[in-house]
Amino acid sequence: MTNSQTEQLPAQQVEAARKAFEQEFERFARFTGYSPELAGLDLDGAVVEERALAELRTRHLGKKSELASTKKLIGRVAADERSAFGQLVQATEAALVSAIEQAEQNLKQHIEDARTARESIDVTLPGRRPSYGHRHPITILRERIEDIFVALGYVIEDGREIETDFYNFTALNIPDNHPARGEADTFYTTDGFALRSQTSTVQIHAMQRRGVPIRMIAPGRVFRRDTPDPTHNPMFYQVEGLCVDRGITMAHLKGTVTEFLRRMFGSDTVTRFRPSYFPFTEPSAEFDFSCFKCKGAGCRICKNSGWIELGGSGMVHPDVLRMVGVDPQVYSGFAFGLGIDRMCALMYELDDIRLLFENDVRFLQQFE
Ligand code: FA5
Repeated sequence: MTNSQTEQLPAQQVEAARKAFEQEFERFARFTGYSPELAGLDLDGAVVEERALAELRTRHLGKKSELASTKKLIGRVAADERSAFGQLVQATEAALVSAIEQAEQNLKQHIEDARTARESIDVTLPGRRPSYGHRHPITILRERIEDIFVALGYVIEDGREIETDFYNFTALNIPDNHPARGEADTFYTTDGFALRSQTSTVQIHAMQRRGVPIRMIAPGRVFRRDTPDPTHNPMFYQVEGLCVDRGITMAHLKGTVTEFLRRMFGSDTVTRFRPSYFPFTEPSAEFDFSCFKCKGAGCRICKNSGWIELGGSGMVHPDVLRMVGVDPQVYSGFAFGLGIDRMCALMYELDDIRLLFENDVRFLQQFE
């Protein structure tokens, strides 16, 4: 016997067990009859209460309960008090069991009703239309560009986003001391690979893999350490174009870019080339096209200039051809590259290219 049992009379022990039970059972008393609290309990809440009640039953009626230990005293109380004590223990136990069972039954019923309600189906309701999603505006534009070039006989190349120094710089004739190689301009992985800063890297892979003659475009993501603003993102899309064959001249470059822009923005689109510099082309030119909105008259989109800047281009540098084993005495080619994000912003009249990657569904839904 424990100390507390030796100090208490057996009847007092039964009373103590009953009191302890009542105190704990208070939480479940609201379930013994109909109560608005039970009616308001949701399915998950009711299941939690049911589990707590089962634990309470074990604590107060189980083998190790206070009441169970009072049963062991029956044989020890004086013979003339034994029957009364036995009856007290039994009556107490019956009261506890009855209280628990009432609460249990009501909770069970409530849970069953809640489950039935949750699972019931109203077959007369109209069906829910599944949401299929749709293409991202960048994807819509990329696919339009791809369609135009495929129709002009170009293949589509896929490139790597993580590059070695050779592909990102050396093979593109970018000198060792060029600032683009620095960490201020280019992202590097911890083991020294560069996240490609332009799709021009694919020119090299494509010529190595397919050889020449070649006509290909390579759309894809590129990365630069540019601070985000309405016209810059550290990650954006470019499309590279490359055509190498015997006798390719600047005239082919101009004709191809012009034809592409006409198919893209209408047959009256005018293209203009401005001298520029890229290490991997010589000569190099940036190209603009007449504003698709105002047709050159000047508007908000073209900042009143009548022209929209699109990308860079030029004749593939002989050193680049040599780098991939192509003889520049026999072959020549042109290349061009343009940014899709800014083009997309212009076409949809977006003020800020960052909107394209904020994943705000309210914005994206407009392009369905
Ligand atoms: C190039 O990247 C050259 N590789 C293009 C080229 C290809 C020249 C082949 C010659 C031959 P540039 O750095 O100008 O060029 O970038 C091309 C386009 O990318 C820009 O016209 C612009 O539309 C887009 N662009 C550049 N930086 C960002 C940026 N941070 N965010 C969004 N678009 C950008």
